[in-house]
Amino acid sequence: MNLKLITQQVCDLAKEVGSFVRSEVDMVRREDIETKGLHDYVTYVDKTSEKRLVKGLTKILPEAGFIVEEGTTKIKGQRYNWVVDPLDGTTNFLHHLPVFSISIALMDNNKVILGVVFEINTRECFFAWKGGKAYLNDTQIEVSSTKSLNDSLIATGFPYADFSSLDNYLEVLRSFMKSTRGIRRFGSAAVDLAYVACGRFDAFFEYGLHPWDVAAGAFILQQANGIVTGFNGSNNFISNKEIVASNGYLHNIILSHVKKYL
Ligand code: IPD
Ligand code: CA
Ligand code: CA
Repeated sequence: MNLKLITQQVCDLAKEVGSFVRSEVDMVRREDIETKGLHDYVTYVDKTSEKRLVKGLTKILPEAGFIVEEGTTKIKGQRYNWVVDPLDGTTNFLHHLPVFSISIALMDNNKVILGVVFEINTRECFFAWKGGKAYLNDTQIEVSSTKSLNDSLIATGFPYADFSSLDNYLEVLRSFMKSTRGIRRFGSAAVDLAYVACGRFDAFFEYGLHPWDVAAGAFILQQANGIVTGFNGSNNFISNKEIVASNGYLHNIILSHVKKYL
């Protein structure tokens, strides 16, 4: 299997479907918005994007199945499965805020072997494949070299539906507010992870995420020499709904702040 070639094909597909998503920003009407859960929305744009991605990915690797956010296909692969978020940052999209993306990973059994995060408005394509490095468009990327928490800029996602750990989460925020340059909440976990991979952020943490939010971005970050774990330091961050991602140098200190409360 030529993973480099497949990754290039996936980038081209993400760019093509991303153009469709971008062209719909001004088209979506209030009545197009469906509520999936508390503060969780979807429109025909998410669903159409997913259908187009599923069609394109099936052409690229016919034997692969899918784990997709909007449930437009139930096909499961014996060995290979695509993990797809057709629009990561739907709330931003609905509010005409520019940060939203397409996130696609390929899993070989339970290991990710390629990842693509396409940031739709900046037209930045972040990608990596097993055995290769990590890239942003034509340029190889690496995590930051920040070694002191005091010099770091970190990203997170605020809880919006699962408030079971809200007080503890706020304690973590309080400790990072005092000990870092700042905290950002951009609204697309895939972009947050890609930004740690290219050194814009030094670290990221969030709870309540799904495999399609993190599989691609976390893999790209690992290929860019970053570290990703669960809150307890384990490798199980794809399905465990909690993630700490960093440039590596800061991992232990970030984990210790997170673990103290969460
Ligand atoms: C959301 C974004 C957001 C994160 C949420 C996700 P969606 O994905 O990644 O940054 O905070 O937890 O659900 O719903 O826009 O695909
Ligand atoms: Ca998402
Ligand atoms: Ca989504």
